[in-house]
Amino acid sequence: MLKAIQLYLCLFFVFALGIFYELSIEPGCFFDCKPSSKKFLTLKEVMTQGEKIIFLETSDRLEPPPLVLCSVESAARIYLDRPVVFFIKGLDNNTLMDVKSYCPALSALSAMKNVFIFPLKMDILFQDTPLLPWYLQINATKEKYWIYISSDASRLAMVWKYGGIYMDTDVISIRPIPAANFLAAQSSQFSSNGIFGFQPHHWFLWGCMNDFVENYNGNFWGNQGPYLMTRMLKGLCNLTDFKNLEDQRCHNISFLHPHRFYPIPYSKWKKYYEVWDSIPDFNDSYALHLWNFMNHERKNMTTGSNTLVEHLYKTYCPTTYWSLIQAAEGSKEMSLNQTS
Ligand SMILES: *[C@@H]1O[C@H](CO)[C@@H](O)[C@H](O)[C@H]1NC(C)=O
Ligand SMILES: *[C@@H]1O[C@H](CO)[C@@H](O)[C@H](O)[C@H]1NC(C)=O
Ligand SMILES: *[C@@H]1O[C@H](CO)[C@@H](O)[C@H](O)[C@H]1NC(C)=O
Ligand SMILES: *[C@@H]1O[C@H](CO)[C@@H](O)[C@H](O)[C@H]1NC(C)=O
Ligand SMILES: *[C@@H]1O[C@H](CO)[C@@H](O)[C@H](O)[C@H]1NC(C)=O
Ligand SMILES: *[C@@H]1O[C@H](CO)[C@@H](O)[C@H](O)[C@H]1NC(C)=O
Repeated sequence: MLKAIQLYLCLFFVFALGIFYELSIEPGCFFDCKPSSKKFLTLKEVMTQGEKIIFLETSDRLEPPPLVLCSVESAARIYLDRPVVFFIKGLDNNTLMDVKSYCPALSALSAMKNVFIFPLKMDILFQDTPLLPWYLQINATKEKYWIYISSDASRLAMVWKYGGIYMDTDVISIRPIPAANFLAAQSSQFSSNGIFGFQPHHWFLWGCMNDFVENYNGNFWGNQGPYLMTRMLKGLCNLTDFKNLEDQRCHNISFLHPHRFYPIPYSKWKKYYEVWDSIPDFNDSYALHLWNFMNHERKNMTTGSNTLVEHLYKTYCPTTYWSLIQAAEGSKEMSLNQTS
């Protein structure tokens, strides 16, 4: 029964999602105006095309949950003229084609014209960065936060090498970020590393990678993540508390107001899964961070719940939303068929 539902979902995603996305997105001209040649683009060709949006999966998971799909889809819709690149550690180049045939969600994502999926190869990524010696001597099996730490390292190296914007896979994009070199304040005088953007080879990120290695402490969660960003920024500028909705500037780096990405602070993360009297307009935000690491209860977007998160899916990742509706109806139908 469960197998049957899974099969139904797989087939459904493969056949329907790509088509729906093609129909729903405005016809546009991406990069070379030959979207059919997209699958032949190499990593280097993609990464040298304009400003990228970069997502990473550093666990071995190959089947991204709906929130990840929503996050990537929302970015693909907001940044129609930019490559949206999703690096997945569990993929290697040899299995990419096989994986697409049994990982429907990945097929659905790669059906989007400006979405590119590549394997994440840290040994290659860290070459020519201060992170390589650290990476070569660390024993990953002994690190209790390895998935986070390897993600913290990879995002610094990616944005340093290629430039663009890194986003966590629980960030829903709602409008383009106007800054090129920026960090996102999570609260007053504290930077997150869940979203940031820089031009290629920016000195700030080089400094971050040096600090990563010099002050490495794998036992303290976030030491190489938000605390590193905050330490580096405080070393450069005297941060002040935010006034009204104004962003700050430190050299040529914008330190964006907490409202831009965190209008709902992490202590209130459950608000995303609640029904609101009126849906906030989030006019002062560029993207919304859903704080998935707080979500130990595994709350999710339930169709028909009228929660804030359902409104966000409907508005910013309608293809993902529509596929969940169809999947729910499909499994309902199947259980009816089984009982009758
Ligand atoms: C795939 O990766 C292996 C090593 O991981 C490399 O030797 C090979 O050239 C790659 N193949 C392609 C087509 O990129
Ligand atoms: C890494 O640590 C594990 C567990 O302590 C150990 O079994 C393994 O031999 C270590 N690997 C290396 C290369 O030191
Ligand atoms: C920060 O402020 C302190 C004292 O107010 C001052 O000594 C220091 O030079 C300032 N640092 C920067 C980077 O402006
Ligand atoms: C920011 O500053 C660095 C060095 O001070 C410089 O290399 C870089 O081009 C600047 N970027 C912008 C957008 O001004
Ligand atoms: C938010 O933006 C929308 C569209 O730009 C506008 O209609 C609405 O009035 C704005 N809301 C507020 C509170 O400014
Ligand atoms: C989503 O949450 C609902 C209600 O908590 C639960 O019944 C359902 O199994 C969850 N779905 C997934 C895919 O985890």
